Amino acid sequence: MSQEIATRRVTAPEIRSRKGGEPIVALTSYHAITARLVDNHADILLVGDSLGMVLYAMDSTLGVSLDMMIMHGKAVVRGSKRGMVVVDMPFGSYEESPAVAFRNAARVMQETGCGAVKIEGGVRMAETIRFLTERGIPAMAHIGLTPQSINTLGGFKTQGRDTALWPLIKADAKAVSDAGAFSVVLEGIVEPLAAEISRETSIPTIGIGGSKECDGQILVLEDMLGYNPKPPKFVKVYGTVGAGIDAAVKAYADDVRARVFPGDENVYLLK
Ligand code: KIV
Repeated sequence: MSQEIATRRVTAPEIRSRKGGEPIVALTSYHAITARLVDNHADILLVGDSLGMVLYAMDSTLGVSLDMMIMHGKAVVRGSKRGMVVVDMPFGSYEESPAVAFRNAARVMQETGCGAVKIEGGVRMAETIRFLTERGIPAMAHIGLTPQSINTLGGFKTQGRDTALWPLIKADAKAVSDAGAFSVVLEGIVEPLAAEISRETSIPTIGIGGSKECDGQILVLEDMLGYNPKPPKFVKVYGTVGAGIDAAVKAYADDVRARVFPGDENVYLLK
């Protein structure tokens, strides 16, 4: 018996087919409340391992575990209906071998119900991307400034300032595309290089601090909402959520201190 599906999610092949077409709107989301709101407008909801820094105040993403990603992935899938949910594979969960990556990515897919996983790395991860996609796990790649490699990159540094390194970064883009990734995040890559990669790569490029020639853009939601007091320089801040929360909490604290209890006017106090 066939069952009508009320809403259908965006799929990896649909994102793949947007190369050179309608720009792809992507945002991070870490829990159900933001997922509901982001889902109204975005094609992709990324459960990024940036949650370690944004939600848990870690110094880097290296301390994020697979269990954390699964918990947050479940919440975002529950909170959304239409957008494609992509869950980041955290540091240590996929680099060892394609087989280890498959086992952990399969767990993420099974336990969260997400539509794809994201892994950091270009040429070095191409074999793993092929292994996953050939076995039913859509993979989004992430090259350029890959935050899980800050210890080898020497920090959160823009990539491609030295044009001698451009061929290596371009080779990363080609390798993940040839391996079957359905899209690739270009993070922290100088604009002319991100533009060239976008023109030369056959899968959609999704920029973060990239180029407007990318096929889509992604931002960390809390950065663009005005939640993060120090967003990265390239972020356009669209909201004033941090100031809004501050004003609301201050008004609440003022009320409590004045013994005006929330709801006094319109809620029956318990007797
Ligand atoms: O973890 C994350 O939020 C990301 C985006 C910045 C692309 O990987």
